[in-house]
Amino acid sequence: MIEVGMLPNDFLWGGAIAAHQCEGAYREGGKGLTIADVLTAAGYNRDREIHDDVHEGVYYPSHNAIDFYHRYQEDIALFAEMGFKCLRLSISWARIFPEGDEEQPNEQGLAFYDRLFDCMHEHGIEPVVTLLHNDTPLGLVKKYGGWSNRRVLEFFERYCVAVMTHFKDKVRYWITFNEINNMLKYEFQLLTWVSGGVILPENLENQSAVFQVMHHQFLASARAVILGHAINPNFQMGCMTGFIMNYPATCNPDDTIESNKTYKRLYFCSDVQSRGYYPSYMLAYWRDNDIKVEMEPGDEEILRAGTVDYVAFSYYMSETVSADPEATSSGAAQKILKGIDNPYLERSEWGWTIDPVGLRIALNKLYGRYQKPVFIVECGLGAHDTVDTDGAIHDSYRIDYLRKHISELKKAVYEDGVDLMGFASWGPIDLVSASTGEMSKRYGYIYVDLDDEGKGTGNRYKKDSFYWYKQVIASNGEDLG
Ligand code: BG6
Repeated sequence: MIEVGMLPNDFLWGGAIAAHQCEGAYREGGKGLTIADVLTAAGYNRDREIHDDVHEGVYYPSHNAIDFYHRYQEDIALFAEMGFKCLRLSISWARIFPEGDEEQPNEQGLAFYDRLFDCMHEHGIEPVVTLLHNDTPLGLVKKYGGWSNRRVLEFFERYCVAVMTHFKDKVRYWITFNEINNMLKYEFQLLTWVSGGVILPENLENQSAVFQVMHHQFLASARAVILGHAINPNFQMGCMTGFIMNYPATCNPDDTIESNKTYKRLYFCSDVQSRGYYPSYMLAYWRDNDIKVEMEPGDEEILRAGTVDYVAFSYYMSETVSADPEATSSGAAQKILKGIDNPYLERSEWGWTIDPVGLRIALNKLYGRYQKPVFIVECGLGAHDTVDTDGAIHDSYRIDYLRKHISELKKAVYEDGVDLMGFASWGPIDLVSASTGEMSKRYGYIYVDLDDEGKGTGNRYKKDSFYWYKQVIASNGEDLG
């Protein structure tokens, strides 16, 4: 029970990273290739390309990333110096089952995460582990067509049992999937690839294939929750949604209807994962759009039995939607953000709106809807940083962004009574950007000396935000500087 008016003493301050964006060592320790290992880096006006395999002479950012695989001890020590209580990270499925469909887990992969979790516990850092963060083994895509094939559930279940059993005394907080809802942005091929390991036609007419992938992932998530609770009843199992807040462009009721439609798509995954059944608004949408999803007897029972204990989400931005089809959006984020410009909000260098109050609204909406603890497991500002001649990195813009967001989350807890488990900001150490493959889109409190082609020493340097976040954590959010 949380006391209204204060952040709980066990509030999970920390950061969040994902295997394919930081580990590197893409073929070491028996690891197989993943769908992230065949993604190139984006260039000016060019998206990341999806290759069928690794091609010689091409730069793939995940291959070395920031070499966390070899440098994790140094990085964990730096997180501990900031006072981290938790670190959200993901296990790379292909380190445990290199092709995805083996019978037995790869011992070297398990051993790596044993070392990593031990190191975290030595530093008093609680792992929050995402079972799948956009890096399905490539073998499963080649042999089975990725998540469009129901057989992948069986392999995912085997993987879940292997890791949840092996780490049952080292990990308590689990997140089943990262942002299943990205599948709904199917017009952006990169997103259906990273979410489902599928490539869909750009002008997709019937969306059955999108929802079939999602149905398989909902089942897989529910099975992971059921198995997790059986393996260790103390496990806390969560879902994770990419939450882009939205506002109606005007008080024209039609704009509110448009906004509601956008929210329904936003809530869809957490509705299924948290409530355990398909919402009626989506069944109506399927009916009206001739969408057919193949389900088997027993599926509904699995969804009902596998509801999550908490609702985690990422929060970066908001969008403003209009019923007027002529209304257009400007800015670099057009593929991710819909709708029109919001005159009240600034944008990041990558065109993402900056909306701290939106975080408070998001917390209220999610907690109000589910009445389950909520957890901010990603939030942050991607920005270019400059290293001064004396080696310092003065990232006041990042401090400003985070200060405002943390201030709003406190209001959500203090004034609105939201049960918030923690705040894990995205990329506490600079890592490879998921949307662009760049290193120069930096989120970290810790600077990593690598450029967009992976060149540099890889050495780590503390930014001004490092000292600032340390003081935030030490004061349990009271001292925001
Ligand atoms: C989240 C993803 O949606 O956004 C992360 O879960 C990703 O993997 C983050 O890195 C920020 O996006 P980007 O493109 O700036 O790296």
